[in-house]
Formats: sequence, structure tokens, C-alpha cells
Amino acid sequence: MTLPKIELIHRGRWQTLSNVPPARTLLDLIREDLRVSDTKEGCASGDCGACTVVLGSGAQAHTVNSCIRMAHSAHGLQITTASDLSVNGQLHPVQQALVDHHASQCGFCTPGFVMSLYDLYNRAQGRAVSREEAMEAISGNLCRCTGYRPILDAAMAMHLYPLPKASPAPAPAETSSERDPLDPHYALPTSLRQLLPLRARFPKAQIMAGGTDAGLWVTQQHRQFAQVIDITRVAELQRIEQYPQHIAIGAAVSIHDAFAALAERRPEVAHFAHRFAGRPVRQSGTLGGNVANGSPIGDSMPLLIALGAQVVLMAWRGGRMVHRHVPLEDYYLGYRQTVLKPDELLCWIVVPHPHADEQLHCHKVSKRLEDDISSVCLVLNLHLQQDHVREVRIGVGGVAATPVRATRTEAVMRAQVFNAATVAKAQDTLAQEFNPISDMRASADYRRLLLRNLLQRAWLQAQGQGLVQLEDLP
Ligand SMILES: Cc1cc2nc3c(=O)[nH]c(=O)nc-3n(C[C@H](O)[C@H](O)[C@H](O)COP(=O)(O)OP(=O)(O)OC[C@H]3O[C@@H](n4cnc5c(N)ncnc54)[C@H](O)[C@@H]3O)c2cc1C
Ligand code: FES
Ligand code: FES
Repeated sequence: MTLPKIELIHRGRWQTLSNVPPARTLLDLIREDLRVSDTKEGCASGDCGACTVVLGSGAQAHTVNSCIRMAHSAHGLQITTASDLSVNGQLHPVQQALVDHHASQCGFCTPGFVMSLYDLYNRAQGRAVSREEAMEAISGNLCRCTGYRPILDAAMAMHLYPLPKASPAPAPAETSSERDPLDPHYALPTSLRQLLPLRARFPKAQIMAGGTDAGLWVTQQHRQFAQVIDITRVAELQRIEQYPQHIAIGAAVSIHDAFAALAERRPEVAHFAHRFAGRPVRQSGTLGGNVANGSPIGDSMPLLIALGAQVVLMAWRGGRMVHRHVPLEDYYLGYRQTVLKPDELLCWIVVPHPHADEQLHCHKVSKRLEDDISSVCLVLNLHLQQDHVREVRIGVGGVAATPVRATRTEAVMRAQVFNAATVAKAQDTLAQEFNPISDMRASADYRRLLLRNLLQRAWLQAQGQGLVQLEDLP
């Protein structure tokens, strides 16, 4: 078996790596093949940030958790780790600021903090960053020893330090890569014309997007993949397209970019987006991966169901591309079961623009504020005409085997006067509409109580009552 070679840029030079198995992680490639040991393994599940590296260059560069990212996904890209930042012994501003603020706390987490702040430093382009921006940048980095304050202080001071003086690095020469993008050991197709016929030929190949779900099957369950089709290079699937009535988001658009696009017309989504994982997972994980994976506690699906989104499923049949639209709530058949046929792929998520009378309430309850999975997620999309509920859609996560639409509760509210009595009836119905399970995140009773209380909260908010958010407390 001849595996395709990986060629990537590291420290200004192309490196070629042979015989890398499809399920080898980028972290293992960095530590064991490139022999770069500053990048650490903490949890091997995307939770702690010790393995954070920057993947890509220029405006495309972003942090990823290398422990759950497949090594082959880095083919053709630049990787940067913490030990690449200093020049001739002079530390990068991020590193010097961390030293001066006593923020270099332990050797396991610090390289990951450095890379998250390096990503922020580059995005800030020399300006000072706020405490909130710094908190968002390190939302995927866990410290269990002394705390975050010195790290945040360092982040807010890093713009004051000079960059190390380095003679401009010569741009690495083009590679003579002969890698076949359609090699099914780890295919990296670049267009739908390549992707869909490949899927038809290899219906059992593992589809890989950001790897923030699928990477865990490798590190936690030791799965190997005989064939992988990576969809992240497909140009069409990276697009966000605006139409008069809707927005169409390609399946390979990152969670970060997809939520930002939705927040342009619906500002309520911005706060909700920050509750999704930490920054490296949001930058690596895709909207299509979240929807296709179909976890009952996934966060984008309650939102998208409430917004009336449809998914576009595509396949290559009879020598041409075919597609069908499916309302998102009909996409799921059961726990991790969907209507997707073996030759189909989820290619677009289509979301109608808001009506003028729309009120959107998005609530996620989880044990931790950042980088945690929902106990319950509830999104209420309410259309009020004078004091009547003209239309309502409710998406819920964490209460059934799939993300669900609360159609019985909607029926109780639709065409009714929007008042405390209607909301009370809707609360009773919502608490009975699903049979949630008890697990380590929440008991069934607590989940039912949450459904009631989140609806109550939406009612109070609709009355203009300012509510205290946990994160607003000093
Ligand atoms: C630390 C951590 C925190 C997380 N926090 C959250 C959170 O707060 N909320 C939340 O909802 N999720 C969370 N997740 C889960 C995960 O990040 C999301 O589900 C993410 O959107 C998955 O996208 P991906 O591109 O990484 O998918 P991948 O892992 O690459 O793929 C996931 C699955 O979807 C399939 N797939 C991917 N794309 C397609 C496609 N276009 N067509 C058909 N099948 C496809 C793959 O075959 C695979 O089975 C978290 C994960 C981690 C590691
Ligand atoms: S090792 Fe913990 S996030 Fe990768
Ligand atoms: S910096 Fe490693 S536990 Fe705090």
C-alpha cells in the first residue's frame, strides 16, 4: 500500500513526510515525525488546548487542536508551533509579555496559550486587544493551576513589545507535489465535480471535515480509517452566498465564519456563537460537520431548526450532479441516523432571512460557560403581529435522541394572544413534549425544568426585562 505523501511548510521550508497513516493525528506528526516537542498532548480530545498550533498562513491562518486534526489535512499548508516564534534567542512579543507578567505557569499548557495569543496578536495587527478579546482567544485553553489573570494581563500588553529582528525569510519555493487529490487513502478533492463521483465510488470512505468530532474517534476509540475523503478543500463548500430571500452556507464553512454570517442579520446569534466550544474548535469545526454528525446535544441544529433551515444533499448519479432539499427537522431519523444516502453528501445549509416581526431567543445551558457541551439548548423564533403570535418555531437540543422541533408547543402558541397565560400553557406542553434522559450532564427532571424556565425567560425578555447573564457579573 503506497500512501500519499504529506508536504507542508515548517520553519520556512517544505517538509515531505511519507507513509503517514490516514488516521495519524497532526500532533503525532509534529512530535514524532517532525521531532518538535513544544506542542503537548494533554487530553487528546480537543478540550485542554495544550496541543494548539496555527495552521495555514496569512489571512487563512488559524488555531487548531492538533490532537484531533488529521495529519493529512495539513498537506500543502504551513504549520507554526510555539518554538517557531523566537528569532535568534529573541522572544516573540507574545512570549516576552507572558514572561514579564509571570504568566508562563506550566510547561504543558503554556505552548498552547502562546499559540492562541499568537493567533490573536496577528489578527489584531499591532493594536491593543481588550480583555474580552483575550478571553475569547484563550477560550479553548484550560489552566488548572494558578489562574488566567496573568495570561490576560500579558495578552493586553503584548502589542507594546517589539517583534524580533529577522532577515525577511525567503518565500518557500513551490513544491513539485504529485499527490493525487483523489487518492482514496486520504483524498483532498477541490471541487464538487471531484468530490461527488469520488463519494459514489467509495460510499464507505470516512468523510472528514474539521475532525473535531471524527478526530475523537481516533484518539478515544482507536479507530483506523481505510479510506478518507476530506471535504475541506472543496471550493464550492467553502462559500457563503447571499440571495434575496436566504443565505446559503457551504458545508465546509467553519462554525466561526458560519455563525458570524448568520449574526449579520440576527445579532442575537453572536452571543450564542461564543457558547459553542472554544475558538480553535470553532475555527476548525464546520457547520456541515455539526449538522451531519447529528449529535442530540449539537448547538447549531436547534438554532437552524428554529430559523426554518433546509439542508441540500447532493450526489453524482447517471453522470451528473443531483440534489434535494430537506427541512432540517426531517433530516434526522434517530440517534445518529439521518436520511443521507450512501452516495450523498450534505453540501449546503440554506437559512431564510429574518422577517421584520421576528424575535429570536437563543439559550444554551451547560455546566461551564466556555468550551462545554449543552445540557439543554432552546431556540425560540417568534413572529408577533400586534399582540398575536403570527408564527413560531422552536428548536431544542438535549431532550431527545436527535435535535428536535417542538411542534406541539408551537401549536399551543400559534395564533394565540402572546400573554402570560399562553406562555404558561406552552411551558406545560414543552415540559411534556419530550422524554429526556438522565446522564452526567443533567437529570431528566432538571432538563424539563430548564425547558420551562427558558421559555419563561424568553417571555420576560420579550417584555423588555433586562436579564442578568452569568458572564456579566464582575
Ligand atoms: C472540545 C470540543 C468542544 C465542542 N463543543 C461543541 C459545542 O459547544 N457545541 C456543539 O454543537 N458541538 C461541539 N463540539 C463538536 C464539534 O466541534 C462539532 O460537531 C463540529 O461542528 C463538527 O464539525 P467538523 O467539521 O469538525 O466535523 P468532523 O469531525 O470532520 O465530522 C463529523 C461527522 O460528520 C460527517 N460529515 C462532516 N461533514 C459532512 C458533510 N458535508 N456531509 C456528510 N457528512 C459529513 C463526518 O463523516 C463525521 O461523521 C465540540 C467538540 C470538541 C472537540
Ligand atoms: S491535547 Fe488537549 S486539546 Fe489537544
Ligand atoms: S498553566 Fe498549566 S495548569 Fe495552569
